[in-house]
Amino acid sequence: MQISITRLEKKLSQILPLAEAYQRSYNKLSEQYKSPEEMALYSRGYFLKKLWKMAEDTGSAVAVLNVDGTPRGFVRYSEIPEYYTKPVNGQTRDLEKGMLDGWEFAWYRKVNFEREVQLSNKTLIVNQIYLDPEIQRHGLGTHLLQKTIPELKKQGYKDLIIEYNAHNANAEKFYRGIGFRPFAKTQDFDHIIKKDGRTTFCISDVAIAHTTIDNALNAMRDKKLNKTFIMIQKRNEKAY
Ligand SMILES: CC(C)(COP(=O)(O)OP(=O)(O)OC[C@H]1O[C@@H](n2cnc3c(N)ncnc32)[C@H](O)[C@@H]1OP(=O)(O)O)[C@@H](O)C(=O)NCCC(=O)NCCS
Repeated sequence: MQISITRLEKKLSQILPLAEAYQRSYNKLSEQYKSPEEMALYSRGYFLKKLWKMAEDTGSAVAVLNVDGTPRGFVRYSEIPEYYTKPVNGQTRDLEKGMLDGWEFAWYRKVNFEREVQLSNKTLIVNQIYLDPEIQRHGLGTHLLQKTIPELKKQGYKDLIIEYNAHNANAEKFYRGIGFRPFAKTQDFDHIIKKDGRTTFCISDVAIAHTTIDNALNAMRDKKLNKTFIMIQKRNEKAY
């Protein structure tokens, strides 16, 4: 069994299997706190388009985790939005405008700081980290960060922040284990759903956590891939 990490490219041979893994991971997680109407929007095409856009985006980098050559998960790092660096009285906000589910919308995205954290232009945001459910909890998420964060350090980055659904206690445990500490809250405007003549705005509560890159590298220094994972993979080789 081989684990490799490659960069996301605009290649269907990579994006198709990755979209399936992303869909399985996102949907398993989100069905715990999203409505069936909202979940119906998270089709394979939705994740394909999302990954394709990420591959085109020059402002972010996506590292793909491959198990025996098949893409099974990824992490995405981007520059932080500038308004994050300028809180006034513990709050900062930005007007988001655009099209959402066929509607034109505008909304203020507010970030409320619960403690002071200095975010500079040497800060990156971990926008997404998703692994196929079948391969979770064997140390691969940690491995993906262990292998990619040193590259960020080499490029001069100093801090990382991460946004995650405030109800995602497992993700919070994962991030805490590698040094992240929550410092702010915000909300995401995810979807507009029209059903039976009623319009529903799908808004999710988001927690934001911070760590320095050095702190994360220290926290992960002694963590290793779980050996039982390697044994399970060998026994189930055909599944991959
Ligand atoms: C979060 C995620 C990337 C972590 O990767 P992973 O390979 O599963 O995590 P690891 O095996 O490296 O776990 C390291 C530690 O994190 C914590 N952790 C990770 N997943 C957990 C879970 N499902 N439940 C409880 N703790 C968890 C544990 O403390 C774990 O250490 P332990 O196994 O020794 O107890 C992965 O589980 C995932 O894709 N989850 C679904 C998507 C998601 O929540 N993404 C984050 C949204 S922004």
